[in-house]
Amino acid sequence: MAKKPSAPPPGSFLTDIKTLRERARKHIEQGAVTPGYRADRPTVIKLLNEGLATEIVCILRYRRHHYMAAGIHAQGVAAEFLTHAIEEQGHADLLAERIVQLGGEPNFSPEGLTTRSHAEYVEGETLLDMIREDLVAERIAIDSYGEMIRYLGNDDSTTRRMLEGILAMEEEHADDLASMLEKLNG
Ligand SMILES: [Fe+2]
Ligand SMILES: [Fe+2]
Repeated sequence: MAKKPSAPPPGSFLTDIKTLRERARKHIEQGAVTPGYRADRPTVIKLLNEGLATEIVCILRYRRHHYMAAGIHAQGVAAEFLTHAIEEQGHADLLAERIVQLGGEPNFSPEGLTTRSHAEYVEGETLLDMIREDLVAERIAIDSYGEMIRYLGNDDSTTRRMLEGILAMEEEHADDLASMLEKLNG
């Protein structure tokens, strides 16, 4: 675990400029990761890789649902599944990019993918099944991103902000799915 930098003396808000400049020159090969990085990097990378696996499973599930959606109400729903799949791809890209910035490697291996993922790959028989399964997966993503955000606190605000952006979209996805369910059930 990276040693946390010593706190600045009381009354001074920032590290003095000289120390800041000296620190930045050390380990420049670490790119965006400076000695001031406060989070536990290996843990953050592991969590982001779990997020990445979750997004990949969601992309696959939504694409399957997009192509399998059939029935009277299916057209709009199928289009929505595709939109979600594309948005989950965007999340996967953000996560992979941040993992690399933190000096890690994004895990795109199909091996163990469903174990690393928090959400499940459920095909579902009917349109209703599919929407329900997607909603469950979104609710899992909402909870797990929420936990990651709380874990990071103020220790890595860039990752936290990125996750907050993703979380907001997962909430929209869940909301869309809940409305679809209501319409179909109504
Ligand atoms: Fe996502
Ligand atoms: Fe989502």
